Amino acid sequence: MEAVIVLLPGDGIGPEVIAGARQVLEVVAEKYQHNFEFREELMGGAAIDAIGEPLPAATIASCEDSDAVLLGAVGGPKWSDPAAPVRPEQGLLGLRSALEVYANLRPVKVYDELAGASPLRPELLKNVDMLVVRELTGGIYFGEKTRDEDSASDLCVYHTHEIERIVRFAARLATARRKQLCSVDKANILETSRLWRATTDRLMAAEFANVEVETLLVDAAAMHLLSRPGDFDVIVTENMFGDILTDEASMLAGSLGMLPSASLGDSARGLYEPIHGSAPDIAGKGIANPCGTIASAALLLRHSLNLEDEAADIEAALAAAIADGARTADIAAGGAAISTTAMTATILEHLRQP
Ligand code: IPM
Ligand code: MG
Repeated sequence: MEAVIVLLPGDGIGPEVIAGARQVLEVVAEKYQHNFEFREELMGGAAIDAIGEPLPAATIASCEDSDAVLLGAVGGPKWSDPAAPVRPEQGLLGLRSALEVYANLRPVKVYDELAGASPLRPELLKNVDMLVVRELTGGIYFGEKTRDEDSASDLCVYHTHEIERIVRFAARLATARRKQLCSVDKANILETSRLWRATTDRLMAAEFANVEVETLLVDAAAMHLLSRPGDFDVIVTENMFGDILTDEASMLAGSLGMLPSASLGDSARGLYEPIHGSAPDIAGKGIANPCGTIASAALLLRHSLNLEDEAADIEAALAAAIADGARTADIAAGGAAISTTAMTATILEHLRQP
């Protein structure tokens, strides 16, 4: 097949992990006789440096004219002055919004071999296989902000239709999995959460009677994620809760560097990115973990290009590399660590096998 894939390396370790994922996609193209055209565009701090804004119009246009977008990471101390007129993160929010990718899928898979990299006891990690579905284009991330000398505010707004579409998205995914949906809110305090809960209850009863629904307050959910992680199938939650809970959940997998994400809307085009940030402390050292980005490339093939065999092939190569003992520093648990390029090379070696 022919496909246009936009690459947005961004900042910090972004370019290093994107380079690895690109090689993986190139090997897939060769092995399965696809024609992928890669277009690299400016985004985040790199775009601020080049043209003064985090999300150039040319980048949006290029993404809109593509089949899928793969992003590294944005942000860093260089652009973090509180008084700065523009920030790299605005570019990312703007892109999510422009592409209308309201559903952010963050699968949490634990490799048995990496149990030692997690701070949790190995017996708690058995059977962990959850999918967090984070609402991505609404809530407090996008509400009006105010600031004066001694006060500030961030408005959190959700509309019924935004809640319905994300809950429906998550419930459909649950239907194809273990048919369990856990909705996370803060309905004892927040009005937006009370609307979220009422909407979820009504929609699930009307449209998904075969899916078992559980509701948790976000503080309790943060605890349950650690005390009984194996119980969760699909978790659906609002934008900020999903951001926080998935960083927490990444510790089940051993490292923030392991988790991929797919951001989808109503069209096939999606935005794919690891859940980690730009990690300025290790940027340029060649030690970043490319696994989250490579796993995101697999999600890209599955969800935007409908190439399930190819996606599964990447995932199998990744699992094989882990089984071989290949470890970047973040998952080495104090043992021998290899570089980003060596980790990528091990995955490529498995992928090249017929
Ligand atoms: C994420 C990141 C972003 C977010 C930042 C970089 C804006 O933390 O994708 O989880 O908060 O959504
Ligand atoms: Mg985050």
